[in-house]
Amino acid sequence: MLTTFSNQLFNIYPIINPPKNYDPTLNPVGMDVGTTRCCVAVNRNDGINVVAIDNSDRPLPSYIGYEEKVPKCGQIVCSRIKHHFKSTVFDIKRIIGKSFGSIVIDPNWPFKVFEENGSVKISTIGCENVDILLSPEEITAVLIKHMKKEVESFQGQSIFEAVITVPAAFNQTQINATIEAAKLAELEIIHILPEPIAACLTYASQQQIPENSTVLLFDLGGGTLDVCIVKIEHENLHILKSCGDQYLGGRDFDTILMNHFLAVLKEGYQIDLINDFDNARLLKRYKLMLLCQEIKHDLQTAESAWLDVSDIDPNFDTQIIIKRDDFEKLSAGLLLRIKFKILESINSLNLGLNDIDFVLQVDPDWAVAYGATLYSYYLKTTSVNEVMEEAVPEVAYPQDTEPVQVVQPVEKPTQPETPSAPIHEELDEKPRLHTKDKIKRELIRFVKKV
Ligand SMILES: Nc1ncnc2c1ncn2[C@@H]1O[C@H](COP(=O)(O)OP(=O)(O)O)[C@@H](O)[C@H]1O
Ligand SMILES: [Mg+2]
Repeated sequence: MLTTFSNQLFNIYPIINPPKNYDPTLNPVGMDVGTTRCCVAVNRNDGINVVAIDNSDRPLPSYIGYEEKVPKCGQIVCSRIKHHFKSTVFDIKRIIGKSFGSIVIDPNWPFKVFEENGSVKISTIGCENVDILLSPEEITAVLIKHMKKEVESFQGQSIFEAVITVPAAFNQTQINATIEAAKLAELEIIHILPEPIAACLTYASQQQIPENSTVLLFDLGGGTLDVCIVKIEHENLHILKSCGDQYLGGRDFDTILMNHFLAVLKEGYQIDLINDFDNARLLKRYKLMLLCQEIKHDLQTAESAWLDVSDIDPNFDTQIIIKRDDFEKLSAGLLLRIKFKILESINSLNLGLNDIDFVLQVDPDWAVAYGATLYSYYLKTTSVNEVMEEAVPEVAYPQDTEPVQVVQPVEKPTQPETPSAPIHEELDEKPRLHTKDKIKRELIRFVKKV
């Protein structure tokens, strides 16, 4: 099997126009393997389509279940976590490519993480209650393989090549581990693209960003914070700065809510899910964990949200209300770290807030997969020499110094079979690009507030 890949990050990416004509032999694929959700997009007759990969849903929750012979992933695993939490693995993106000592073990993980002969291993319970040991790459491969299969049935042809996105804050070891996972998922040609750049390509393909604009890309993913500053010059994105925090993500906000409700349940209802770890209590804890994610999402749009105590213990028919303001107070430490990263990235370029023309807040839903597909399309329609000419290898990233591999000539996939029926799905939301005025209202207010 020929396996070629580029694990190289560049400091220039071209702005790419969406494909106008449909050429099924190209079949570009972009995969966003998220901490909490995965998303994949392809090219169809009508442009770039996000594929429904979890039954009729487009995003796939990044939960993997091992209780049956063949591991499965997605919403079904979330729905069954109550019964199979001991066989469930999630947050794998917070583990992959890290050394054991640099992994922050979350007490809410139902699986064990340990070191064996210098490698990180995950132990979970497999089919027929047998203990199983897996590498983070093998677990991530389940998600990628699922996406690959769904894309193959959607497109009616095999997939050998894909662009896979990673947080800009990922180092070379994490990138290599992600490529390894993709290889285990039987992808043969793999290209890596930073998530915020993918989102920016999406935006730039739909709306013109004025020449010479300086754009701050802000991506708070499930597990990592990425801040990139790019300049738009000659139809290219020039990365001026890329930094982040590998230990700060949306999942930490879930944990803040979780700890809050655990304390209130213990104090106000004598429901102790903190100390007593029998199976019934663990089950309630995982239920609470999923509810906290929903509550966090609700607080994005509503001033207040609540936990129905009956969801945890049917003996109580009350709600524990949480206001957005209170949640922001509880999250003050995390918000301060975000503020610090934003200011640090701007200051390091000797710029001020007023030098930033736009802020692009990365939509966690589909914008990354869409941009990755645009990039895949670009790579398939541009000769290797042209790609190498335009894409100067990134030198400013604070990454490891392992040698980088160069893009190899692309092997075209075989002739397609008849594609399956197209499923046309409108992209319901546009990526959010805030104008300078809005920065003043949102970013500066945010920076001042915390
Ligand atoms: N509507 C929403 N409101 C608040 N947070 C959201 C919303 N939708 C998604 N998120 C959060 O955004 C994060 C998405 O992360 P994801 O893209 O899966 O991970 P990553 O980008 O780190 O790989 C999660 O923490 C999720 O809870
Ligand atoms: Mg993401």
